[in-house]
Parts: sequence; C-alpha cells; structure tokens
Amino acid sequence: MPITYDASARRFHLTDGKTFSRVLAVIDEPGGNPGLQELYLGAALPEAAVSCAPQGFPPSASFDGYHQLAPYAYPTAGRGDFRPTACAVRESDGTCGPVLAYAGHTIYPGKPLLPGLPAVYIEAEAEATTLELTLRDAKTGLEAVLCYTVLEAFHALACSVRFHNSGTQALVLEKALSCAMNLTGEWELMHLYGAWSRERQPERTAIPHATFTLRSNRGASGHEHNPFLALLAPTADERQGEVWGVSLVWSGSFLMEVNKDVRDHVRLVAGLDPCHWRLLPGEDFHTPETVLVRSDAGLNGMSQRFHALYRRRLCRGPWRDRIRPLLVNNWEATYFDFNEEKLLSIAGKAAELGLELFVLDDGWFGKRNNDNCSLGDWTVNTDKLPGGLEGFAEKLHALGLRFGLWLEPEMISPDSELYRAHPDWCLHAPGRYRTQQRNQLILDMSRPEIQDYLIDTISGLLGSGAIDYIKWDMNRNFDEAGSAALAPEDMKSLHVRYMLGLYRVLETLTARFPDVLFESCSGGGGRFDPGMLAYMPQTWTSDDTDGVERVGIQWGTSTVYPVSAISAHVSAVPNHQVGRVTTMKFRGDVALGGNMGYELNLATQTPEDLAVIRQQVDTVKRFRSLIQQGRFTRLRDPFTSRIAAWQFAAEDQAEILLCVFQLHASPNPEDIYIRVEDIDDQALYMDDAGVTYAGGVLKHQGWRACFGENGHREDHDSLVLHLRRV
Ligand code: GLA
Repeated sequence: MPITYDASARRFHLTDGKTFSRVLAVIDEPGGNPGLQELYLGAALPEAAVSCAPQGFPPSASFDGYHQLAPYAYPTAGRGDFRPTACAVRESDGTCGPVLAYAGHTIYPGKPLLPGLPAVYIEAEAEATTLELTLRDAKTGLEAVLCYTVLEAFHALACSVRFHNSGTQALVLEKALSCAMNLTGEWELMHLYGAWSRERQPERTAIPHATFTLRSNRGASGHEHNPFLALLAPTADERQGEVWGVSLVWSGSFLMEVNKDVRDHVRLVAGLDPCHWRLLPGEDFHTPETVLVRSDAGLNGMSQRFHALYRRRLCRGPWRDRIRPLLVNNWEATYFDFNEEKLLSIAGKAAELGLELFVLDDGWFGKRNNDNCSLGDWTVNTDKLPGGLEGFAEKLHALGLRFGLWLEPEMISPDSELYRAHPDWCLHAPGRYRTQQRNQLILDMSRPEIQDYLIDTISGLLGSGAIDYIKWDMNRNFDEAGSAALAPEDMKSLHVRYMLGLYRVLETLTARFPDVLFESCSGGGGRFDPGMLAYMPQTWTSDDTDGVERVGIQWGTSTVYPVSAISAHVSAVPNHQVGRVTTMKFRGDVALGGNMGYELNLATQTPEDLAVIRQQVDTVKRFRSLIQQGRFTRLRDPFTSRIAAWQFAAEDQAEILLCVFQLHASPNPEDIYIRVEDIDDQALYMDDAGVTYAGGVLKHQGWRACFGENGHREDHDSLVLHLRRV
C-alpha cells in the first residue's frame, strides 16, 4: 500500500515502494495540540521500519521552544517557528498565527481534481493513492486539508492544500504555500536561473545557514527563475547520488525558500506567492500543486521522473501523444515586413522540403507593422493577407501544410481599438503612470468579462477550423498591478486572480478546440513551467536560436521538462541574437533535440544549405518518435566542457540516438569518449554504416567521438550516432 496509517503510533507512511518514503506523525504538544510533524523523508523504507523513525518534538513534556525545532509538515507563521513557514493567516482582529492541529484524515484510491488549477492527473484510479489530512484551527475554524498523492508508477508525490473557512470571521491567507519538506544531513541546492535569450542556466550552490529564496513577483514564472529546485547530496552529479526535485505546477508569481537552521536541519517550502486571499466564511481556497520526486541516480534520474510524469500525466489532449509537426515560422525571416506573396514563397519551399506546418508570427492583425500598436485588435490586416486568414489558410492547406498563428492574447496596446474602447481593461493603478514594456500593457485577466472576451475572440478565430496551431505569446510582466474591478482589500491577491483567470481561459479554449496544437511562449521561454504545460504540450524555449547557446539552454530546460515540450528551431546566420555563424548541420543537430522547426527564409537559402535541410527533414521524420517519446539523458555538460552530449533511448533500449557537440575546437585535442547510458550492456548494437559495437563497451568505456576526421577542424561541430540493437 502506498499510504498506510498506524493508528497506535499515529504515523502515516507514504511511499512509492521504490524511491521514497515520507513518515508523518501526529505529536501531542504542550497546550494539548496534536501537531503534524515529518519524522522521515528519504529513500523508501519497508513498512516495519516506519515505527523506528525518530520521534518528533518536543522530546519531553517539559521541553520549551520546540516550535523552532519541530519538523512541521505544514509550518505556520506566528507561533514561534522562526524558519520559513508555509502558511500565514491574518485574523479579523489583526493577529496572525493559526494553530493547525490534526483533526482527522482519509486515505483513498485515486487523485482529486484541483478546481481551476492545472495539475498532474491519473487515467485510472489504481494509478494513485491519496491521503487527505485535515488540520484545524480551533479558534478561527480555519481548516487546512493537506492532500498528498502518491503516483506509484511515476514515483512522484503531489502535494497541495485546500483551505476551508468553517468559522464566522473573514480570514486573509497572507501566505498559503503548497508544501513543506524537512530534511536532515548534508544538502546542496540547484536551480535554473536566466534572462531573456539565456533561459534556464543551472546553478548549484551550498545551502548557507540562512534562507535561500527563489522568487518571481512578475505575475509570470519568468525568465529569471524557474519554479523548480533540487536538493542534492554533495556527491551527487548527473549520473549518481541522491537528489530531490521540487517542481511547482503554477505559471505566476511564486516562492521557494530553503533554510538551514543552526542545527543543520534543512526545510524547504514552495508555492504561489504573493497570496493575500480573503477567505470568507464557508469558502475554499486551493493552492496549486507541488510535485516531488527523489532519485538515487543523480540529476538524470530526477529529470527522467519529471519527463515521464509531465509528458504522460500533465500534458493533456490528443496532442499529448501525437508526433509534433515539423514547422517553419516566419518571425526571423520577415519580422513585421511581409505580404502574402513573401509568406507563400517561404511556405512553398517548406512544402517542397517536406515540412508540415507554417506558423504566421506577429504582425498579421490590426495595423501592426512594428511593436507599437494593435495588440487586442485580433482582426486580420487585409493589406497583408487580402483573402483573410481563411484565404491564406486555404493556400497553405492546398500546399499540404497546416496553418499556425501567433497571438498575444493577454496584452493590449495603448494604440489599439480595444484600448480606446476599454481604457480600464489593463492592469493599472489609478492616478499612476501606466508603465509600458515593449509598448504594451497587460489585460486584467482577473476580470470575468475580459476572460469571456478572450474566449469569444479566440473561439471566433478558431471556429472556422482554418487554424491548426496557436503560438500563445506573453511579452511583458507586471508593473502597476492594480485592477479596476477589485475591492481594495482584494487587490493584493491580483497575482493569484490573474493566473486563475488565465487558466480559466486556457481550460475553456483547449477543451473546446482539442485538435488545435497550442504552443506557449513568453518572450521566448519566460513562462516555461508545468502550469502552462498542462494546457499547451510544448513551449518556445528561447528567442535565442544560436546553436551554441541553445545547447546550454536546452540542457538546462531538460532538467525538468520533457523533450516533447521543448521547441527548437534552426535560424539564419549570422545569428540574430549573438551574431555567431555556425553551419546548417550544427544548428540542425542541436534543434534535433526538441520539437524541430525552421525560423529563416527557406526561399533564400543556398543550394548547399537546402541540401542539408533536405537531409535534416528526413532525419527528423525518421527519429522524432524516439526523440519526442524516448528517454532523454544528459551526458556531457556544456557549462563545464567544450564538448557536450546527450542521448535519446527507446524504453526497451533497442534504439539509441547519440548527439555530440564540439562547442569550440581544441588544437591537438584529447581523445573524447562519450559513455552511453541507458544501453543494454549485454547486447550488440549496429550503427547506420553497419559498424557493430558492444553495448558494454559503449557504456563503460564510451564511444570515441572523432571530430575533425572529415577535415572539419572547427568550432561548432556535431556528430550524431544512431544505434540499433542487433
Ligand atoms: C516574442 C517571441 C518571438 C516572436 C515575437 C513576436 O519575442 O518570443 O518568438 O513571436 O515575440 O513579436
């Protein structure tokens, strides 16, 4: 049983039976409160070991100051726990400090839905077991129901909290995080930081005797910090060692705090923030969910758990399992300067080359010929597309291409018909300057009428059936976060309300148009998070399409996100972001590690490059099910080595694709051996040239990557080895 309760010891044991155990216990505290504490969090324990887990705090009835030591399962502020807490509740008299005492529990097969929130799901009740632990504050009647779901086959634990106000006074959930973890021993932490065009760079650091804070207060998860954090044993690396991964299924402002106290206990709390939700008597509030996985096989082991879970039980709809189309996007080919003829010249070439989807990016609507105007006016510019979207789509469909369209629905340009009609529809603070970023303001997604307007407008666009794909962009973050429709006392909850409003729109549209493939984007990868993945199975990874930079960005992104979520395009050289010139082959081999596309003018490529593209199209079509649905492993780190490598393996290890990148050349170089992982070391494998290899040699000694043997002694070289078990 993944979740058991020992009534005599009042202990709960949550385990997937293989990778983790968590032991929670009800402990009587002075004052008569049965508190809920976490006695053990680590490798899986046999049932018999659970009763031997350490005791909680206080160790004796006379022990004072235990609040600052007790490993609370859901620590609250205002009662002498001076470490980061998961919950702070302001009462109507202005004081803060619920005493959340154990009040009961249920254990049941399955997993509850989180109303209005994205979450991992199950397809059969037998896939999961849930423990709901009710904690109650006797004074206010506040209930916090801690929901823990063990997804056994995916080796994951999903944690969220449902608050219910069963009292008579209005309460304010100032802080309402999804979970807390308490660990002992030596740990380091790793997270993904970034910037526009430089997203998700892994950073690893010791945990100080202080609080490490990872936060976004931008109204989006953001380029700067991904809602993810790993705790690692100091000796853990990509291939081995103990790692906990913590990933928040939320796309808005968030908080993760890790604290090491003076006794070397490590606590982590994670969830949405700021919250400031006013909870009236009788009302509920659900936190988003945090997903925890544990691995003894290093960071790759952790990543593979997230990949499997997110690809199969977070992404939804028919596109979850469909092979993603090979696309061409006109953005870097034309920017705003296009007409139908120009677009069709690219599309015609794309069709001839065997591509499958044409994506029309920014600039097709209103009078938008630059980024100064028209966001909100989602009507086609017939100067550019005389036959409208339908007419253009017909021409693409006649070429055998699907039609994709760029939208930035959450935005409004001050120079737009929409803004002239509804100047109060944007986020703003009365009497304050409305700060623009990229010449635009943000629609107030907390307002139901604005949500409805977007649902209707986009349904209108999609209703004709002409559009097969949407790139949903979002190019700025919050400044004056005020809403014309919210009461002053609710204003601080705008960050949460914005995201709940957006999720409502996304839920409605993706359910209404299941066959449309949605791709999330936010100035590149500024909202690459599990929340968006629940609605859109792929995300534009970064506006930086330089091959060398992309190796690092895709490497970092793969820490949490499956390859099927990572969109990767080949763009022109000199690269528009960094000016670097790399070969078409190198750019293609890098983009092969994601949902591949082209973002350049196919109609103006040299015959040599077109020949390479033709080959790439064949390669993508041959290997994409392995790439998008196989198991991905990082092999050699581009942040610490001039050689990077990764691989894709079929579930049964019968097929492997190994990609090796020389980021810069070295004179008289070392011999490079890439040790292949996830390979049958008892079997023989054969490459496409008919050379046979022993799986054991590839695994334990490695494959010798010979750059320069074809006279190509340059930076930015790449090798792709395809192996089949014989
Ligand atoms: C963002 C996206 C780009 C492109 C532009 C269009 O920056 O990340 O891919 O769509 O907007 O304005």
